[in-house]
Amino acid sequence: MIDLRIRAATRDDAGAVLAFWSESAEGTSVSDDLAGVTRLVERDPEALILAVADGVIVGSVIAGWDGWRASLYRLAVLPSYRRRGVSTALLRAAEERFLTLGGRRVDAMVLVANETGQLLWTAAGYERQEQWRRWVKPLTE
Ligand SMILES: CC(C)(COP(=O)(O)OP(=O)(O)OC[C@H]1O[C@@H](n2cnc3c(N)ncnc32)[C@H](O)[C@@H]1OP(=O)(O)O)[C@@H](O)C(=O)NCCC(=O)NCCS
Repeated sequence: MIDLRIRAATRDDAGAVLAFWSESAEGTSVSDDLAGVTRLVERDPEALILAVADGVIVGSVIAGWDGWRASLYRLAVLPSYRRRGVSTALLRAAEERFLTLGGRRVDAMVLVANETGQLLWTAAGYERQEQWRRWVKPLTE
């Protein structure tokens, strides 16, 4: 049994979170830098949820809420802590946050090739929607 603490990240965690993501996350984000993480926690101090064990970040999820959508990003668990319920605990915390804020449905983007990701989301009760494609446009160079 892991002694797991689930808590919101602060700006002081930004460097450790980036190091954790480089080891544990799947894919990268355009916001993967100190300015990006700091902007997130300053805009919404409850959005970046961490799982901490023995003082070390072992899991993360971003629970983004803009008043309309409840979206999950950056779900990741340290390789040595996987299959021990860390994601399950993070998703429980994220879903509780959304419910408190009035969210009605949660969404998550999952890379098509991420088979483990698909298994996790399915196990967590999420259903894949086939009728959508992501459209993007960079705002900066
Ligand atoms: C996907 C990931 C976040 C899962 O985290 P985790 O803490 O190991 O997940 P949990 O222990 O809470 O697993 C919950 C359930 O999901 C399913 N699951 C999770 N990992 C699985 C795997 N490797 N193979 C099969 N099923 C898996 C199982 O049903 C599991 O329940 P069980 O262990 O009782 O069988 C982790 O493997 C990870 O960080 N992967 C790299 C990053 C990533 O792909 N993130 C998802 C982005 S969409």
